[in-house]
Amino acid sequence: MPTALTLSGSIRTGSFNQKLADIMGARLRAAGVEVTPVSLKDFEMPIFNEDLEPDNVPQTAIRLARLFVSHNIVFIATPEYNGGLPPLLVNALTWLSRVEPWPFESSVFGIGGVSSGKYGTIWAQSHLRDSLTKIGTLVVPTLLGIGPASSAFTEEGDIAEKAINRKIDRMIGELTHFSRGGV
Ligand SMILES: Cc1cc2nc3c(=O)[nH]c(=O)nc-3n(C[C@H](O)[C@H](O)[C@H](O)COP(=O)(O)O)c2cc1C
Repeated sequence: MPTALTLSGSIRTGSFNQKLADIMGARLRAAGVEVTPVSLKDFEMPIFNEDLEPDNVPQTAIRLARLFVSHNIVFIATPEYNGGLPPLLVNALTWLSRVEPWPFESSVFGIGGVSSGKYGTIWAQSHLRDSLTKIGTLVVPTLLGIGPASSAFTEEGDIAEKAINRKIDRMIGELTHFSRGGV
């Protein structure tokens, strides 16, 4: 059975991106994938500084890197901060890029996000895709930017818009059919 890791670049109580990560987890499960949801709350890392290497590399970064490598799929939901990425996610990815095992070339990645603006994290998606691609990550092509958050979800907590639901279906198809050929 294929496996997936889901995580959110926001650990805010009531985070819309956590909601999206949970929805993607449920959709992946429905597609026959075994899902491990993780929260960056459980992987605290100091702000990256090369002076911390090699003696003070956080074990949490190594644990998270191992989880990335041991799953076929990684889905990251990220908020957009000032047209870019939130420091929590940048810091985690920066640490991940400095530890073994190298966590970016084993799994297939999906990225998406929810923001309060109507452009729905498209700039953040662009930054994240660009950075991940430059370090060798295979990111599936569907652009899953959702906004504004205030009207993105139904009262039951599902995705409100049909077009977004179709995009999610497409991304699930990509995530379950693309492969790095290993793991
Ligand atoms: C520092 C900061 C910068 C933000 N910048 C943007 C932005 O550039 N574009 C946008 O659509 N929303 C922006 N927002 C609003 C976020 O989209 C909103 O807070 C969203 O709910 C964050 O995601 P979360 O619910 O998962 O925590 C910003 C919020 C913060 C705190």
